[in-house]
Amino acid sequence: MDVILKLLFSSETMELYILDCLAYIMISMAFLTFVTLLFENVPYGRYASSRYGFPVNVKFAWFVQELPAFLVPLCLVFFTSASRTSHLPNQLLLCMYFCHYIQRSLIYPFLIRGGKSTPFLSFLLAIVFCMYNGYLQTRYLSHYAEYPSDWVTHPFFISGGILWLVGWVINVHSDHILRNLRKPGETGYKIPRGGLFELVSGANFFGEIIEWAGFALAGHSIHSLAFAIFTMVVLSCRAVAHHKWYLTKFEDYPKSRKALLPFVF
Ligand SMILES: NC(=O)c1ccc[n+]([C@@H]2O[C@H](COP(=O)([O-])OP(=O)(O)OC[C@H]3O[C@@H](n4cnc5c(N)ncnc54)[C@H](OP(=O)(O)O)[C@@H]3O)[C@@H](O)[C@H]2O)c1
Repeated sequence: MDVILKLLFSSETMELYILDCLAYIMISMAFLTFVTLLFENVPYGRYASSRYGFPVNVKFAWFVQELPAFLVPLCLVFFTSASRTSHLPNQLLLCMYFCHYIQRSLIYPFLIRGGKSTPFLSFLLAIVFCMYNGYLQTRYLSHYAEYPSDWVTHPFFISGGILWLVGWVINVHSDHILRNLRKPGETGYKIPRGGLFELVSGANFFGEIIEWAGFALAGHSIHSLAFAIFTMVVLSCRAVAHHKWYLTKFEDYPKSRKALLPFVF
């Protein structure tokens, strides 16, 4: 793995520069994505369309598309000279990242019930994003990020870590509620009840946004901020789209329920 990195980058200064560029590119992509999502929903799940390529089985798609977000970091941490992995702040931030992606890539896909097939283009873009972001987050944390030795006691790290955990629990719990709306073999939609769904239509998205915002606060880098911004753009647009969809689909949809932010929006 080190050999590949040496072939790609002439020096560590160059690699760090590229990592910074990738973060700024991700922020620009978030802005472009936001503009695009004003006109079109991300085409998977209930918005899947044959215009974006042939359908890929949903469990296969989620497993294969998310796997690079786990495998690329695994190689970077264990099969390269990852010089910062002996430092506690880096270790804890890497644990947060891996905790999410072990669940997302190795557990979540196999729990899906009756999900819609994913169009090939969405599947392909998800693979590219997972490789891109996996490299960006974990290469920076495992080899470059320098924190003061007492960073884990800093209010930013502590509050960020708590936000990350709360967001992760909300995300996993909300996805659990959604999947249990369907009995085995069912593919239709029902009104989600319980947990944070009593307050917002996009409870799972709210959790994930909080999660990566907390990670960005604890990680305090342009790289983690870029991922938090990208997640916020994609998932807040999806929450708004789902909310509108529920209101047109179900006459008895709870009127007090908001799209994303409890009591606010
Ligand atoms: N970090 C990021 O940028 C990012 C991007 C995308 C997704 N994610 C995360 O990935 C996870 C899944 O995302 P998603 O966009 O697929 O979420 P979603 O649209 O809420 O769907 C999640 C699953 O629940 C099913 N479902 C949703 N609403 C339902 C209802 N009312 N009745 C019955 N079943 C329902 C869906 O089936 P159908 O397939 O049939 O709709 C799908 O299998 C979430 O945790 C999300 O936060 C993260």
